[in-house]
Amino acid sequence: MYSGQSIAITGAGGGIGRAIAEKFIKQGAKVAISDIDTDLVKKTADEIGAVGFSCDVTDEQAIIDFIKGAEAANGPIDVFVANAGVGFPDQPGGHAAGGSNESWETSWQIHVMSSVYASRALLPGWIRRGQGRFVIVASAAGLLAQIFSGSYTATKHAAVAFAEYLAMMHKDDGLKVHCVCPQYVKTNMTKGMEVVKDGPDIHLEASDVADSLFAAMEADKFLVLPHPVIAEYQQAKLADIDRYIASMAYRKKITDSGHIPGVKET
Ligand SMILES: NC(=O)c1ccc[n+]([C@@H]2O[C@H](COP(=O)([O-])OP(=O)(O)OC[C@H]3O[C@@H](n4cnc5c(N)ncnc54)[C@H](O)[C@@H]3O)[C@@H](O)[C@H]2O)c1
Repeated sequence: MYSGQSIAITGAGGGIGRAIAEKFIKQGAKVAISDIDTDLVKKTADEIGAVGFSCDVTDEQAIIDFIKGAEAANGPIDVFVANAGVGFPDQPGGHAAGGSNESWETSWQIHVMSSVYASRALLPGWIRRGQGRFVIVASAAGLLAQIFSGSYTATKHAAVAFAEYLAMMHKDDGLKVHCVCPQYVKTNMTKGMEVVKDGPDIHLEASDVADSLFAAMEADKFLVLPHPVIAEYQQAKLADIDRYIASMAYRKKITDSGHIPGVKET
């Protein structure tokens, strides 16, 4: 299905971005990957057979350059995956607004504006061609919350909202949009993070997320939930928001007091 297609993925030096790149390559696609970590992205590109670019997604010109480079190497982009992401804790204040202004601004730039910049560069061509596919790797935190990170929670919600907006605004132009909302996945981002173990599939491999994305693309589904339980949590939140807030407050409390029946990844 993707054989010969031109794919571009941000933040793909490792983790979920790399896993998505590898899956596209296996299907015969021509893949360009980028990352702010120049050494890592070069090494990864060599290892998996992609073309590697250095790109800080907070810089609109850098995204334009990445897209131009990817198109020069592989032809007009068929699929763009906005995958780069970061997480900052609420510290040092220790309360919900304790994160620095810089961490909020960086999260906004990476999780939201990078998709605005990329779609601004890609949409005119896609509308002309009557096709294109934009994937936003958001998070379950964009539907629910990431306890102890207000900046992650708020900007991932905004990422989900922008994905929905892109999809509805350009459905009639032939644009396909997918929004990937995993819970915990074993990558650099979750190294050392305590994980509440309340289901067999709670801490997935990056390749599981790639598999879920490909299944959703095939089925033409917008929302990609590699952890199916998130759909239940989402329903429960919609059904009773007060109960949802109370349950998340409890989750915060047990995390705070260190009484999580969980695992600590190293
Ligand atoms: N790991 C999880 O549990 C999890 C869960 C839900 C969503 N996600 C999301 O998945 C995406 C991929 O994360 P991952 O888990 O593979 O972690 P990761 O840390 O392996 O990958 C994120 C990549 O983004 C890159 N990056 C950071 N800032 C950048 C910038 N300004 N410009 C370009 N690249 C930048 C990093 O160098 C890194 O390679 C992120 O958007 C993350 O928020 C991860």
